[in-house]
Amino acid sequence: MKRIAALTSGGDAPGMNAALHAIVKLAARQGIETLGVENGYDGLIEGRGHLLGLREVDPIGGWGGTMLGSARSRAFRTPEGRAQAARALKGCLGLVVIGGNGSLTGAHLLAQEHGVKVMGIPASIDNDIGCTATAIGVDTALNTIVSACDRISDTARAHRRVFVVEVMGRQCGYLAMAGAIASGADACLYREQGKDEDQVVAELSAMMRSSFSPERDKRRVLVIKAEGVTTPAQRIVDRLQAVVDEEIPGVTVRATVLGHLVRGGAPSYQDRMVAGRLAVGAVSGLLEGATDQMVGWQPWDSDGLKTRDPSVQRFPLSAVLERTEALLDGTSEVTQRRVALLEAHAGVLSV
Ligand code: F6P
Repeated sequence: MKRIAALTSGGDAPGMNAALHAIVKLAARQGIETLGVENGYDGLIEGRGHLLGLREVDPIGGWGGTMLGSARSRAFRTPEGRAQAARALKGCLGLVVIGGNGSLTGAHLLAQEHGVKVMGIPASIDNDIGCTATAIGVDTALNTIVSACDRISDTARAHRRVFVVEVMGRQCGYLAMAGAIASGADACLYREQGKDEDQVVAELSAMMRSSFSPERDKRRVLVIKAEGVTTPAQRIVDRLQAVVDEEIPGVTVRATVLGHLVRGGAPSYQDRMVAGRLAVGAVSGLLEGATDQMVGWQPWDSDGLKTRDPSVQRFPLSAVLERTEALLDGTSEVTQRRVALLEAHAGVLSV
């Protein structure tokens, strides 16, 4: 029987299981079995995996995390590790890699160095992958951020407090940016804005003065900080508290780091829908003989290869990796548009 392999790699993202569910079902429909590789590239190197049956994947679409397990593999970064991984795929038509930047880089190397047929599916809460408007997991993570901020706002208003809430995202400020707009925050701190600590503290202090002035009389100030801003949240809090102690009696400042909380939970409708459609694009692509590509979610015009799904396009992994780099170093139009969007919100988000 013909066989494809699938793995999840890097930081897990809600919706990975929904992608696996669709992969196994579509492959089975074509008479192809799916080897589920456990623990990402580590499992591939160690030969750990099992055939995924329809019964096993039936309930997984609504589960968070990944039923296959994931890893950030050190061994796969070595040429020997990749050679071993390629050997483990002998007899497979191809490999679907569900993961983020590092995982897609690994897929590209497997294709280039060993001729393995690979197809990537972007999955990372960070939304830091090129050639796709969103990655699997982003929407759920943002829903979690918004709901956490609502809860924090309740307690903040009860006490007249300033909260600095840090959200994940590694080098990419997208979760902080989108989360700040959606949660009605007063300020957003993200690496791409390129401000230094003193400037940030000065601007936040001015915002606090006006927020707690007798005219404005706010009871909550919410600052969303991206993980990529290297100043620790607690340090910002300590410096703001010093200002408050001198100038705004009765107000206190607190930090909350949401951390991995944001990565868990059942995937949202959007993440399940995007995951299912990207999975169909990936399996169809492999069966058409395509390789060294990623399927991207592109509901608007884009320069990828069209598929039967109007919102799914395929892109060479080399282009994906190049655009991912540009997204992170700020030269990408996507990053510039994101920053411009935040600047357009300057009246609402004062910092
Ligand atoms: O890439 C996803 C992500 O959650 C980032 O936002 C974060 O910086 C990183 O992974 C955390 O990695 P780990 O789970 O290895 O601590």
